Amino acid sequence: MTNKIIVAGIGPGNKNFITPAALKKIRAAKFLVGGKRALSTFATENQITCAITRELDAAIDFIREKILLGEVVVMVSGDPGYYSLLDLLRKKFSPSIIEVIPSISAIQLAFAKIALPWHDATLLSFHGRQPARELLQFSAGKILGLLTDAEFNSATISKLLIDCGWDKNSSVTICARLSYPDEKIFSTTLDAAAQGEPVSHCVLIVQGA
Ligand SMILES: C[S@@+](CC[C@H](N)C(=O)[O-])C[C@H]1O[C@@H](n2cnc3c(N)ncnc32)[C@H](O)[C@@H]1O
Repeated sequence: MTNKIIVAGIGPGNKNFITPAALKKIRAAKFLVGGKRALSTFATENQITCAITRELDAAIDFIREKILLGEVVVMVSGDPGYYSLLDLLRKKFSPSIIEVIPSISAIQLAFAKIALPWHDATLLSFHGRQPARELLQFSAGKILGLLTDAEFNSATISKLLIDCGWDKNSSVTICARLSYPDEKIFSTTLDAAAQGEPVSHCVLIVQGA
């Protein structure tokens, strides 16, 4: 029988947002892979762990070795289906041995925090990538939900959106450290955000007039 790779979403960070299904798998895991923060939150000393670093090959090699011995649980932040290691795992292993446990994405929590439905929103990621410019163009009533990183942060993205035809007074809500005790959520204009202190690794919700 082939052992499975369980890709378990752990939600936006705070333990309160992980699903019971993911927690059960993580607790039962003999082989556990995850970022350093996830491992320090969830791993126990009986588990054999591998920290995910920029050297992704090390994690892949660990999974390749341990999958011969039993199930391997891989923890990813937010929802595995939304910009996570799942993409790479599907390239390195047969999707038939991958089981995904969904969770709450940072994007979902950001929209929930401002009580705004996201079914009509355009969801894009600037985390280590740049969306095609045509997807960023302004149109009336458009709502953007954006993941960010250090380079593409609240300031650089706000400038870019103004260049893409968004009114400089359009509303941008900056959602940082979602679910953590130091969570910070505030709304401002694109113009003010473009000139303000950059906030990185956050979610931006932009609403056109
Ligand atoms: C590689 S993506 C992972 C997205 C994840 N799979 C999800 O569904 O939330 C990382 C980006 O997600 C956003 N993010 C993740 N956790 C966050 C949090 N607690 N607060 C705000 N943004 C967060 C940031 O934009 C961060 O740079």
